[in-house]
Amino acid sequence: MKLRFLGHACFLLEEKGTVLVFDPYLSGNPAAAEKAENIKADFILVSHAHGDHLGDAVAMAKRSGGLIISTAEVAGKCAAEGAKTHAMHIGGKRAFPFGSVRITLAFHGAGVEGGHACGFVVDFFGQKVYFAGDTGLFGDMELLGRLEDIDIALLPIGDNYTMGVDDAVLAAKMLKAKTVIPMHYNTWPLIAADPNDFKRKVEKDTDTAVAILTPGRELTF
Ligand code: NI
Ligand code: MN
Repeated sequence: MKLRFLGHACFLLEEKGTVLVFDPYLSGNPAAAEKAENIKADFILVSHAHGDHLGDAVAMAKRSGGLIISTAEVAGKCAAEGAKTHAMHIGGKRAFPFGSVRITLAFHGAGVEGGHACGFVVDFFGQKVYFAGDTGLFGDMELLGRLEDIDIALLPIGDNYTMGVDDAVLAAKMLKAKTVIPMHYNTWPLIAADPNDFKRKVEKDTDTAVAILTPGRELTF
C-alpha cells in the first residue's frame, strides 16, 4: 500500500488500482502538494465539513465519479451538491471493495448543522489506518486501540483546534499503532508545532514509530 501525504490533513492511499483520499483540502491549502484536478479518487472520506477538510471533495467526486463516505449530515450536504455519497454514522462499520470503514467519534464541530465530526478506521486491503480527523484527546482511544489492531494512525498535533503535541503523545500511547504520522500542523502559524518533539516523546515512551512526512512525501507499507 502506498500512503502519500498531500498537506494539512489530506492523505492518499493507493493499492491494486484503488485510490482512497482523506479530507481532500488542496485548493487554497498553502501546504498542498498536488492540484485537486490531478487526483482521480475512487473513495473520498470526509471527516467533517470545515473548509480545510471538505475542501475539494465534491468537485473531486464529480470529476472522478468517486464515492464520498462521511457522516449522514456531511454526506447529505455533498449529495445535495451533486456528488455520489454513502452516509454512515459514528460506531457504524461497513464493507467496501477495498476492505471496510468504521466511523469513530471525534470531539470537534461538524461544520454542518446538526452533524458530528468523525474519524475513520479503514481496513485497506488488510492494513488498518486510523485517521483521527480534527479532534481533542478522548479516553476511548484506549478502546479503539483494543478493538482495532491499528497499523498506521494519522493524528493531529497542531493544537488550538485539535490535540497538541502532548495530548497526541497520550493518544499514541492509547492507540498502540505500529506507526503514527502527525498531521494538521504548520499549515498556518496558528497551528505551528514541532513534529520532531512529538516523535521524540512518542518513541521514548512507546513501541510506536513516528514517521514525519513533508507534503508530497510517500511511504510504502
Ligand atoms: Ni475542523
Ligand atoms: Mn481542521
